[in-house]
Amino acid sequence: MVLSIGHKKTRTAVFISGTGSNLKSLIKFSKTNKSPISIEIVVSNNSKAKGLNYAKRFKIKNKVLNFKNKNLSENKLLSILKINNIKMICLAGFMKILSGNFIKRFKGKILNIHPSLLPKYKGLNTHKRVLNNREKYSGCTVHFVNSRLDSGKIILQKKVKISKKETEFSLAKKILSQEHKLYPKAIQKVFNL
Ligand code: GAR
Repeated sequence: MVLSIGHKKTRTAVFISGTGSNLKSLIKFSKTNKSPISIEIVVSNNSKAKGLNYAKRFKIKNKVLNFKNKNLSENKLLSILKINNIKMICLAGFMKILSGNFIKRFKGKILNIHPSLLPKYKGLNTHKRVLNNREKYSGCTVHFVNSRLDSGKIILQKKVKISKKETEFSLAKKILSQEHKLYPKAIQKVFNL
């Protein structure tokens, strides 16, 4: 991977839309010696995203862009990222689809976490579909973002077993706790650490 770090951490933005539990785990990781990234800015498309509180608590810059006009929001965002010298983006529960043009500007530098064993169950309502199909396993995947939804090169996956009494809620919780470990590991892998 071409992201070389020397001894400085790579300036990273995290994009969120909701609770931000992955953001929290990434912030904690970024503060350790093992981390090749520093989180310089948190971006949300939703001003009510609970995750914004983590940005505030850890004194990280945050920016809300509503994405009602995607083109406009993305252009603003590109200039914010440029001003802040951002070199890498981690999507963490970010529920907007970035345009091909945006992705091109950060080619090979955008990572996403998805709560399924990709290429299975791309898109929304993952856990519900998994349970409806009576799958025995599900899990989570960290992958590079390309212009096709949830389809970029896979970096790491973690499998979890689905229990007999599994509900959407219990499965989401089980997978989320694995996500918190998987995302930092995947970042280390990207940097060959
Ligand atoms: C996570 O499970 C993440 O994998 C999923 O949203 C949740 C966000 O939780 N992302 C997607 O579904 C992306 N298509 P968090 O806000 O607590 O990190």
